[in-house]
Amino acid sequence: MSNSPQPVLSSTGLFTPQETISNEELVASFNAYVALHNSRNAAAIAAGEIAALAESSVEFIEKASGIGSRHVVDKAGILDPDHMAPRLPERSNEELSILAEIGVAAAKDALARAGRDASDVNAVLCAASNMQRPYPAMAVEMQHALGIEGFGFDMNIACSSATFGIQTAADYIRAGHAKSVLVVNPEICSGHLNWRDRDSHFIFGDVATAILIEDKSIAPVGHWDILGTRLKTAFSNNIRNNFGFLNRTHGGIDQSDPKTDKLFVQEGRKVFKEVVPMVAAMIVEEMEKLGLEGTDMRRLWLHQANTNMNRLIAQRVLGHEASADESPTVLDTYGNTSSAGSIIAFHLHHADMTPGDTGLICSFGAGYSAGTVFVRKT
Ligand code: COA
Repeated sequence: MSNSPQPVLSSTGLFTPQETISNEELVASFNAYVALHNSRNAAAIAAGEIAALAESSVEFIEKASGIGSRHVVDKAGILDPDHMAPRLPERSNEELSILAEIGVAAAKDALARAGRDASDVNAVLCAASNMQRPYPAMAVEMQHALGIEGFGFDMNIACSSATFGIQTAADYIRAGHAKSVLVVNPEICSGHLNWRDRDSHFIFGDVATAILIEDKSIAPVGHWDILGTRLKTAFSNNIRNNFGFLNRTHGGIDQSDPKTDKLFVQEGRKVFKEVVPMVAAMIVEEMEKLGLEGTDMRRLWLHQANTNMNRLIAQRVLGHEASADESPTVLDTYGNTSSAGSIIAFHLHHADMTPGDTGLICSFGAGYSAGTVFVRKT
């Protein structure tokens, strides 16, 4: 047997915020905002200076996305038609920041499931779509809160952050720089979602996940071998967020403007059309390289963006319409949770798998970016 390091997936962890917003609650608040907006601007609308806003509908949301409800860190602020954003009181520098708090909760869950002590971990990667601040890095704050020696840094490639984090952690292990790496994905998507935008106000939810990638020599019984990982990026403006530190140099941010592009914006149809073939082709190519066929795949834990996208991708990979058992969804209760989505799906839907079973963790999203992680249960 070779002594060279071999990265494996030891465990995952999940933190789910308690508060939830159903589609009915979301649409009631959105439509209250629409009524307020239209009555406050009645004269301008009548004069044809601005367009009246249209109402949202529960039926559309369910049909277009498969989302039924979402967890959030602050329900009241989001549903207040005069506010339409989470209200998160600023914390002092001495307090743990909220993004680190939910990340630490998920990380502790992953560590406990692997029977791993924090002092045995060598590195923390905070891999997520939105960092709370530029520095000190969220990863370093979480590393400190967990009592981990070694190093940590933040990395962001939007919805693909978790799979890119897994490959990065695996590479550190292969290179001998670490034996145990925590990849943490705290996603407070409600902070960057434009809750006043009818086209996208239903998409996201909040959550945190964590993944423990370790050298096989120290991994717990029942870990998952990593058969192969692959990453891909291709530039596109079709999913974009222009929030950044240079905003103040060109006029600041007006969040009362529903058309603001300093929050999440997307061309949903184009994303759908371009990303489905790109991701399906990438998965199939990687399967060929690894000598895997559709029939070898026991389960796909796909990025949770949209049920229709997932259905099409799974069908192209498996060669038939996927059952809920083959491609489980968490969209109905979590919504799109950016990089955390495929990890929640894995976390909640792997207990029944047996040694030798092969599965795929796959992400895709803004950038565009896509990542595949093929795993096999030991
Ligand atoms: N309630 C009711 N009707 C709505 C609505 C809402 N909240 N939002 C849009 N509509 C209407 C539109 O006005 C449009 O009406 P029209 O046909 O009369 O013009 C119609 O529904 C279709 O709108 P469209 O934006 O083309 O919807 P869609 O069917 O493409 O679905 C997405 C929208 C975003 C769900 C879909 O494009 C998608 O899944 N894209 C994938 C991208 C994704 O999920 N990205 C997340 C990041 S990875």
